[in-house]
Amino acid sequence: MTTTAADLWHHYGRERAATDRSVPETFSWAWSQDGGPGAEALGDLTGLCVGDLGAGSARQAAHLVAHHQPARVVAVDASAARHAMATGLYSGLAPRLHLVHADAVEHLRTMRGSYDVLYSVFGAVDFTDPRDLLPAAGAALRPGGRLVFSTLAHYLNGEPAESEVVHADIAAKTPDGTPATVRRWVLREHLWVNLLDAAGLSHTTVDVLPAPEGGQRTADTLLVTASRK
Ligand SMILES: C[S@@+](CC[C@H](N)C(=O)[O-])C[C@H]1O[C@@H](n2cnc3c(N)ncnc32)[C@H](O)[C@@H]1O
Repeated sequence: MTTTAADLWHHYGRERAATDRSVPETFSWAWSQDGGPGAEALGDLTGLCVGDLGAGSARQAAHLVAHHQPARVVAVDASAARHAMATGLYSGLAPRLHLVHADAVEHLRTMRGSYDVLYSVFGAVDFTDPRDLLPAAGAALRPGGRLVFSTLAHYLNGEPAESEVVHADIAAKTPDGTPATVRRWVLREHLWVNLLDAAGLSHTTVDVLPAPEGGQRTADTLLVTASRK
């Protein structure tokens, strides 16, 4: 992938990557990373082709490869820094873990009907126009394949999610520290259901995972699952 835009994810996860090189024992969908359902929300992955959209340092993808039996997990991230971080941490899990530096929409458009399961943990689904990403994800799934993602149920400052399909500009930093913004889609439940339906996905379920009382990372999470029609 070649890009000239500043990598706005350059700083994210860097501190943890320097000190924690382990494959996580657990998989969490919740913003708090504390409790709630785990990898079982993806269904039985045995022998399946799985894609992580916006995998970051690929900790969840590494967990699936190490603790479940998928044929392959493809961890896709558009950030060069995050892809490099994932490579430094988990390249030893190849070939069942395949780390791809690409924009998720572009990647999915080359993978029509290829995936059994796609997922995103506050990943590309949150930071990409859903009118582009969800149809590409639907088309990249085989019929009956599943998309599962976690996303914010409301803004981190407590403001409610949007009632129309619009993004917010969220504070970020370029690699040299210059303030910038990234687009984030924080949408109400019914909008996700409608967008998924328009993208060729059905049987949508949305669960709200409440933030734990008194935790440090307090936001409710929407855990959304849908299947390709
Ligand atoms: C908040 S991080 C979450 C990373 C990981 N899922 C986790 O839970 O640690 C969001 C990630 O999504 C990636 N991302 C955002 N939009 C993307 C897109 N269109 N294609 C691929 N990756 C994307 C960013 O580069 C970033 O690494």
